[in-house]
This record gives sequence, structure tokens and C-alpha cells, in this order.
Amino acid sequence: MLVGVPKESSAGERRVAASPKSVAQLVKLGYAVAVERGAGAQASFPDELYVEAGARVVSRAEAWGADVVVKIEPPSDSEIALLSRGAVLVSLLAAPRSPELLEKLAQAGVTALGMDSVPRISRAQALDVISSMANIAGYKAVIEAANEFGSFFTGQVTAAGKVPPAKVFVSGAGVAGLAAIGAARALGAIVRATDIRAEVAEQVESMGAEFVGVQAEAQKSSDGYAKEASADYAAAAARMYAEQVKDCDIVVTTALIPGRPAPRLLTEEMVASMRPGSVVVDMAAANGGNVAGSVAGELVTTANGVRIIGYTDLPGRLPTQASNLFAQNVVNFLKLATPGKDGELVLDMDDVVVRGMAAVTEGKVTWPPPPVAVSAAPSAGPAAGAGAVPAASSPKKPRDPRVTWSVLGVCGLALLGLFWVSPEGLLGHFMVFMLAVVVGYYVIGNVSHSLHTPLMSVTNAISGIIVVGSLVGLTQSQHEGRTDMAILVLSVAGVLLASINVFGGFTVTQRMLKMFQKG
Ligand code: NAI
Repeated sequence: MLVGVPKESSAGERRVAASPKSVAQLVKLGYAVAVERGAGAQASFPDELYVEAGARVVSRAEAWGADVVVKIEPPSDSEIALLSRGAVLVSLLAAPRSPELLEKLAQAGVTALGMDSVPRISRAQALDVISSMANIAGYKAVIEAANEFGSFFTGQVTAAGKVPPAKVFVSGAGVAGLAAIGAARALGAIVRATDIRAEVAEQVESMGAEFVGVQAEAQKSSDGYAKEASADYAAAAARMYAEQVKDCDIVVTTALIPGRPAPRLLTEEMVASMRPGSVVVDMAAANGGNVAGSVAGELVTTANGVRIIGYTDLPGRLPTQASNLFAQNVVNFLKLATPGKDGELVLDMDDVVVRGMAAVTEGKVTWPPPPVAVSAAPSAGPAAGAGAVPAASSPKKPRDPRVTWSVLGVCGLALLGLFWVSPEGLLGHFMVFMLAVVVGYYVIGNVSHSLHTPLMSVTNAISGIIVVGSLVGLTQSQHEGRTDMAILVLSVAGVLLASINVFGGFTVTQRMLKMFQKG
């Protein structure tokens, strides 16, 4: 089949749905690829790179006439007219908000798959353009803020005096929010963040930011998305925002509730309380805005000198990176839909990912798809706190206590039998072993996850005691001038395996630590 990559036609759109790297991957999947002349020019992908990767550079009509057309923005009327009947279009569709577009695509007799309708399940993460674009947008939001901000982000001690670090406040710690936290931290700012979902506090802290809670009951999400805030929460949050924005230089708002206008978080009074020169980036400006006074697509300066950025094309402002990630998401989808790796697209509508994306199927509107059960909530455990309520629809059936007691009884009898026949002294060793298991469980269980690899290499080193035991064994393998081969072999194996354990553990830790070293 032929995959067509047309040039984007929307004003200001600099991205392209295929990169030279993704073209090479499509060719490997068995597809022929036709790229419209100049399609990647604004993303720094000249035509020659596509040709080197195995594509043909073609006219607009030829790219649109392909069997599978991949693009970024939803197609315009004139572009729909260029699609062949029976073709498959893979692009953003904004399906929930575009019933007319879906109707037009159905009339054109095509199949249209929305890259923005990929269900949020782990298996589909590699296809999820919403996440990959939000990640870029969060990063770029901070870069745009830094561009408007009149000072350093990082603190400095210079001969002329001390420069304090900038204070950044991020509201909404989803994909974009976490990327914004990462970028602001990397620039050296002090970062604080909040979210209505309680479970993200740990993620915020793992990025090096401080989580600012709201003195009201937060939500516990079962699907990774927030619900509308209660009146109690909104009132307490307003008090928290009033305090934080006054103290911060940069505010990035990313709060989103799917299917609803963006929640209003910052009022005019709050913006007016900020210092002149402060910058607010309202990432939700296209969806009604989290900030009073933000204008979609514009940079506004308030009367007190606060700049409010409402750009709605943040991923497109990093066109090379955004094109690379979008193109990789498309390739990952085509890998899923090309099971034979033979350049033949197979759309399996029983697959929830394909069905979720299929807004129009062979000339029929098939939107909305049946709901997909998704769960992004962490499992309820002791860390969830005393107030945590177990999921109401837990599919796990409680185990019959009779089974538990029977298993324990059988194990107890087996142990008694073992002690009966075992040599003298085993009981003592066994007790030491059981105590080690219990102590080890509690000690390791209380160590932070990020320290598990170094911890493992240290505990591996403790197994160096095996080396000592094996060396003692080696001396005992010689007895009355005879060599006991069994002891010799076991001792040598013990020394070898324990050494691998000890040195291997430290080597892995060293490699892991190197990954975090700058430069
Ligand atoms: P997401 O769903 O991953 O994250 C949104 C976060 O907001 C969630 O963690 C949610 O719990 C939180 N939230 C919801 N209501 C809240 C409230 N009242 N207070 C505090 N937190 C609240 O969404 P994602 O992908 O990170 O996108 C964030 C925003 O950025 C969206 O509005 C999206 O449309 C926008 N966006 C803007 C772009 C641009 O160019 N301006 C590009 C990409 C995304």
C-alpha cells in the first residue's frame, strides 16, 4: 500500500506527520511512501532526507491520492475532496467537537482514524499523540515564559551581588504539568505544583518540586482524569492560589477536565496581586482558559505589567521535535495495524485501540466508540492513608478462609516432617533464616523506590559472606591427602557466583548513576 504524507495547510502549522526516520520504518513495514514536495521544510526535514530514507517526493494530488494518508491537522473541505474513496486517513480529528467533519469524511467514503482518540491504556501509550504533544507543550510553556521573564531562572552569586532563583508555580500535574516542572527545575528555578488529584503528589516530588495541597478533600481518580472540583475544594483552592501567585514569578496553568471547559483557577484580582514582570502561561487558553484575562493565541500584558501567554500552538513552536514524536506515534500505530509487516493495513475493529480511533469506518460515522475501562490509579495500599476507600468495583474475589487455613496447615505439617528427618542444628539455622526474611522485608520495604538499585548492590555485597564460606569449604576439600571433588566444585562455584553478584551489583549501580550525571 502507498502511504501519502501531505504538507500541512493550516496557517502557522510547521509540523509534518512523517520524519525521514519514520519513513525508513514505514518502508521496513512494507509500505511505499510518497511525501508532498516541501512537506517537512518547516520542521527542518528537506526533501532529500525523505528520498534517502526511501520515499518518493510527489505532487500534492499524488500524496492525497494514496491508500493511507497521514497528517497532523484535521483535513479541510478541499483536502477531503482529494482523498480517494476507500482511503484511510490518519490524523488529529477532534472527533467529539467535529460532527460536521465526520459527516463530510463519511460522505467521501473513507475511513478516518483520530490520533487524538487513542484510549489512555498502557498498551496504547506508544501511539498517544495527546501525551507526546502535551509533553512538548509543557516544556515549551516554560521556555516561552523564560523568554518573557526579565531575570534568570537559576539563582546566582555574582561579584555584583546575589540573584535569587525564580519561583515557578505549576497548576495541574498531568503530562504537560510534569513536563513544565521538569523544564523549570532544569533551568534552576524553585518549583511548586498543585493538582486536584491527590495521587500525583509523589510524581511532583519525584521531579524535584514541592507539592502544595489544598485544605479540602482532594480527588482520587480511577481513570487518570480529574472530575469537576467540589465547591469546598474550589473555595480552599482559591485561598491557596491567592497566596501562591503573589509569591511566584512564573505561573503555568494546565488544569483540564475532559469534555468540559477549562476550570477557572486564577481570578483578575489574583493576577493583579502579582509583581510587575511576572509571567503567566495559560495552557488551557484554547479551551476557555484557567486564567482570567488570557486570550487564546495571544500574549497579553495587564495593567500591572503581568504578561499572560495564551499560545495554543506550543508543540508546533518546536516543529522538529513535535514532528519526530508525532511521526513515531503514527509508525507505532501502523506497526499495530500491519500484522504481516507486508505493507497491508489491517484494521481490527475488535481491538479497543483501533476501535477507539475509528471515527469514520468505510463511509459510516462510527463515533463515539464504546467506552474503554481504563485505570491510572495506583493500587490501594497502606500508603493510600487511613481515609482511602478500596475501589468499589474490584474484580478480585476475597479468598475463602478455609483454603488459606488448609494451605497453612499443609505447609506446617510439611515443615514438621522436614525437622523430624533433618540433621541436628537445622532448626537453629532455619530460625535465623526466617528472622532474616522478616527483618529484610521491613528494612527494604521502607527504602524509597529510587534507592532500590544502590540498595541492591549493597545487599549483594553482603552476599560476599558466601565467598568466605566457600573459601573455608575449599580448605576442607583436602582431607587426609584426598581431594573431595563435590566440596571442591561447590566451593569454586560458590566463589564464582557470589563474586558475580557482588561486582555485577556495583557495576549496574555505577552505570545507573552515570545516566544521571550531567555532561
Ligand atoms: P492532563 O489531563 O494530563 O492533565 C491535566 C491535569 O489538570 C490533571 O492532572 C488534572 O488532575 C488537573 N486538574 C484538573 N482540574 C484541576 C483543578 N481544578 N485544579 C488543579 N488541577 C486540576 O492534560 P495534559 O495533556 O497535561 O494537558 C494540559 C492542558 O494543556 C490541557 O488544557 C490541554 O488542552 C493543554 N495543551 C495546550 C497546548 C498548547 O499549545 N497550549 C498543547 C497541548 C496541551
